Amino acid sequence: MTEPAFTITRNPAPASDAVRREVLAASTFGQHFTDHMVTIDWTVERGWHDARVEPYGPLTLDPASAVLHYAQEVFEGLKAYRHADGSVHTFRPEQNARRMQASARRLALPELPEDLFLASIRELVEIDEAWVPAAGEGKALYLRPFMIAHENFLGVRPAKTVRYMVIASPVGSYFADPTRPVDIWLSEQYSRAGAGGTGAAKCGGNYAASLLPTQEAYANGCEQVLFLDAQEQTYLEELGGMNIVLVYKDGTVVTPESDSILSGVTRNSVLELMTAAGHRVEQRRISLQEWRDGAASGEIVEAFACGTAAVITPIGTLKAPSFTLTNPTVTEASLSMRIRAQLTGIQNGVEPDAHGWLRQL
Ligand code: COI
Repeated sequence: MTEPAFTITRNPAPASDAVRREVLAASTFGQHFTDHMVTIDWTVERGWHDARVEPYGPLTLDPASAVLHYAQEVFEGLKAYRHADGSVHTFRPEQNARRMQASARRLALPELPEDLFLASIRELVEIDEAWVPAAGEGKALYLRPFMIAHENFLGVRPAKTVRYMVIASPVGSYFADPTRPVDIWLSEQYSRAGAGGTGAAKCGGNYAASLLPTQEAYANGCEQVLFLDAQEQTYLEELGGMNIVLVYKDGTVVTPESDSILSGVTRNSVLELMTAAGHRVEQRRISLQEWRDGAASGEIVEAFACGTAAVITPIGTLKAPSFTLTNPTVTEASLSMRIRAQLTGIQNGVEPDAHGWLRQL
């Protein structure tokens, strides 16, 4: 397909330098947004058209817009990093483009061609480049592409009018202190996704379903919730908004294999880095009992959460109504912290990008 050219309308009233500096100095997640946004429309008749960059602002949605009723929606998350020489790079954006296509297929939405996805990211980062945080502060510009059913119709069928958008938000870390281990709550009552469901798609509904169990986690002093498989309530799946990885004493890295979890770009990158570093890497079913037994015997020495937003965050304690599992104290020498340093080093341009993952603007 031919890529539609982007029409550009500059924001006539962008944030002042002082306001932007204040936002960039903060270390929040997803609270502040840049001056522009990207929109591309799709209809059955015309396909993708009217690609544009416009001033950031509220949408006018008809109350009958299908997304508001049936949640026909998918999204992505990726980041742009500034290097010490001032250049700006995204990390494996084609992985996000492909995953968004897979999510769209599952939600009966049209697939956005990869080149158009990549161009949309480039256009937004280029026009809002001043919003990419300075190098060396552990911050980045978080990009949030999303696609919604945009047809005003209450019948339950795939929308014939769809809108794709990208917004951007300068971010620090997702958790208050990214190196402090997070405690997670085991959801025994709720599942995130079942076999044949939407668990592998990045759609809002999966996250909506995680909110009530996440409230339960908060009530129990935890920041995230861990879900087990829906069928047997036996095997680890993922956390509310990120993947999980366990580390054995001998350096073996294990992470769940399941059709109902998200194929995390950060997780896949970690597995590739670990494989390249000579670790044994296993993607397979992991029972909760395996983790409990391994932690009790000292065979499993670490657990960490990983995702674009969370990066790599060690897990301190797994709490459940009937037991508590506490991981050993994390130090600079812990594998999770070393992987974190290596991955963020590549993203921030201070470690060689041996895998060719960065895309310079
Ligand atoms: C991401 O890591 O990009 C996500 O979409 C997860 C969400 C919890 C922010």
